[in-house]
Parts: sequence; C-alpha cells; structure tokens
Amino acid sequence: MPTSKARTTKTKSSASTRQSRAQATKNKAQSSARSKGKTQAENGASEGNTQLDKLFTDTLKDIYWAEKQLLKALPKMQKNATTDELKSAIEEHITQTEEQVTRLEQVFEICGKKAQGKKCAAMEGLIEEGNEIVEETEKGSMTRDAGIIMAAQKVEHYEIATYGCLVTFAKTLGMDEAVELLEQTLEEEKETDEKLTMIAEGNINQSAGQEEEEEESDEEESESEEEETEESEEEMEKKEK
Ligand SMILES: [Fe+2]
Ligand SMILES: [Fe+2]
Repeated sequence: MPTSKARTTKTKSSASTRQSRAQATKNKAQSSARSKGKTQAENGASEGNTQLDKLFTDTLKDIYWAEKQLLKALPKMQKNATTDELKSAIEEHITQTEEQVTRLEQVFEICGKKAQGKKCAAMEGLIEEGNEIVEETEKGSMTRDAGIIMAAQKVEHYEIATYGCLVTFAKTLGMDEAVELLEQTLEEEKETDEKLTMIAEGNINQSAGQEEEEEESDEEESESEEEETEESEEEMEKKEK
C-alpha cells in the first residue's frame, strides 16, 4: 500500500492547516472511541493510510462529481416536469443538493484532502436514462412525470447506497464529524425518495394510466412489415426450389 505522495509533497501552508485540523478531528474521534471503553484498534479505526482510507476518499470523489452533475441535470428535469407538485419537489432537492456539495467539501477538509471529483459512470448513466425518458414521453403528460419520478428515484437509490457506505466507512475510521455530516445527507436522500413515491402514488401514476399510447399504430405497422418480409422470404425460397 503506497503512502500518499501528495501528503508528503504538499508545501502550501493551507495544506498543513488542513492536516492539523484533520489530526485534531482524528484525535477527537480516538478519544471518543476510548471514552466508549474501546481502543482505536477495537473500534476498527485506522492509524494511517489504510486501503479503507483510500476507498473512502475515492467514494467521496465519486459522489462529489455525481452531486455536481446533478446540479446541472435537476433544473432540466424540473423544466420538463408537468405537475407543479413535482416541479417544487425537484426545486427543493436542488437546494438540498447544493448543501450536500458543501457538506462533502467539509468532509474532504476533515480528511485533510482537497475537494475533488472523479467521474462517476453510474451517475452519468442514470442522468442519461433520465434524458431518454423525457425524449420518449409526451410533453405535458402525466406519463412524463411518472418517468421523471422513476429516473429521480433511481438516482436517490444510488445516492442512498453510496452515502450509507460512506457513513459506515467513516464510523470504522473513527471520523465522528464526517459521520454526522454524511448522515444528514443520507437522511435527506431517503426523505426525497419517500416524497417522490408519495407524489407518484398521489395522482400521477393513476392519471398516467389513463393516457392513451400514441405509438400503437406504428407498432402494428412495423409488425405487418415484419410479416410481409417473412412472406416474401418464403416466396423466394419456393422460387429457388
Ligand atoms: Fe444528493
Ligand atoms: Fe438526491
């Protein structure tokens, strides 16, 4: 396990300030663990740069990138939503997401690391899927809202999984202050998920169930085209014989 090169080559005074602040937080975590009658080793907390430290930091970078991408994607989702109820729920979550980004920056600071994002392929895919749903549904329809809610809930579930793991990692590493910050965000993501379910079940899904499908005739057309192709293939075979 290589030790962090960045930490040893940092020259800026702000870096050493962050380091001493991180050390202070770690000391606080150690004494809190001891006061609970556990030694640091018993508590599972690490002395230095363990593989779990690295996994924790990498996951922070992943979710930091994801949250920032969401700050770009959510206003688009909000604009495309049909009902005021969904629009205002997304609006509220944009404000929460801004706070979540700030919290992540605080966690980076606790770790003595610079806040930095790393491309999250999962979130990129989930956002892309949300865009596809908008493209494939009719403007102003309840079905579009049902689809946007589904896309948003997939995002929330990804976030819940990530923040849930980050909380348990931070607990293991004895980082009490980080645990507190990450738990706040985890709760917000869970509440958002529940709120979206309530909105969907309130009226949107029901109304979407009454919206007629537009492309039914197109599907029938393509089905008959397929039949024609099969027929002509049979004819060709007969001719060959
Ligand atoms: Fe979030
Ligand atoms: Fe979220």
